[in-house]
Amino acid sequence: MPTVLDRMRLDGKVALVTGASRGLGRGMALALAEAGADVALVARDADRLAVAAAEVETRGRRALPLAVDLADLDAATCAVDEAAAAFGRLDILVTAAATQLRRPILEVTPDDWDRLHAVNLRAVYFMGQRAAQRMLDRERPPDGGARGKVINVASLTSAGAWPDVSVYGATKGGVAQLTKAQALEWGPLGICANAIGPGSFHTELTEALYADEPRAARIVSRIPLGRPGLADDLAGAVVFLASPASDYVTGQVLWVDGGFQVLGAGL
Ligand SMILES: NC(=O)c1ccc[n+]([C@@H]2O[C@H](COP(=O)([O-])OP(=O)(O)OC[C@H]3O[C@@H](n4cnc5c(N)ncnc54)[C@H](OP(=O)(O)O)[C@@H]3O)[C@@H](O)[C@H]2O)c1
Repeated sequence: MPTVLDRMRLDGKVALVTGASRGLGRGMALALAEAGADVALVARDADRLAVAAAEVETRGRRALPLAVDLADLDAATCAVDEAAAAFGRLDILVTAAATQLRRPILEVTPDDWDRLHAVNLRAVYFMGQRAAQRMLDRERPPDGGARGKVINVASLTSAGAWPDVSVYGATKGGVAQLTKAQALEWGPLGICANAIGPGSFHTELTEALYADEPRAARIVSRIPLGRPGLADDLAGAVVFLASPASDYVTGQVLWVDGGFQVLGAGL
């Protein structure tokens, strides 16, 4: 009988992680590799991807860097097939790539809307669809375990409004809702879909926000655990959601936010 720690292992599994060239996606790719998975890494920057791929390999796993602009839908879905073909299977999809726009609603253009939706939601939707198709290529394990795991990346903006990031928030609200729909439709097929909801992490995505020191201090003052998140803070959550230990967990957003959302109204 495997122990719970055995069931957290990902040996023999294959993961594809988008946004793996830096930040939270890179951190999650390395965590999955540490837990035993081979990893396909998707983003645009080939040099940074090569570095992240080498880091996967130093953990004793195979890595496949795929330099793809996820705004190109065909290229995005082909990357899923390429990873599955190269490794012979696909068990885990983590959709961490996203792009941000800080602009008041009154100034947003249709092009802004389309650009963010293409990467943050359309690619998530159709890469999820393609990944589920590849997961269904394999028989369900005889023990009734999951056939595959889809892990999307939501945001505090999935749950509440933040100033000047309305388009990003619309995409992230969509990601949270899509995750529930995936869980509903794919549960009977043996595929679990969950999202990780990071709180406020200091990465390139939030550089402008953390450069504004008074604003950064206000945000950190709201975090019960008293600091912004670090990429490594997502390691346990992503390995859990990718692993057989979470085979009865689906349709959830697992918040990794230092307690950000427990505060009621006001400060
Ligand atoms: N940082 C936070 O506080 C925070 C909080 C909540 C949620 N999140 C979410 O966590 C995820 C990772 O965020 P992060 O903070 O790590 O951001 P980041 O440092 O800006 O990294 C974003 C990643 O997405 C990739 N990417 C962006 N546009 C792409 C495109 N068109 N095609 C392919 N890849 C693209 C980037 O790679 P290339 O530039 O090489 O393409 C990079 O690997 C995102 O989904 C974000 O919404 C972050």
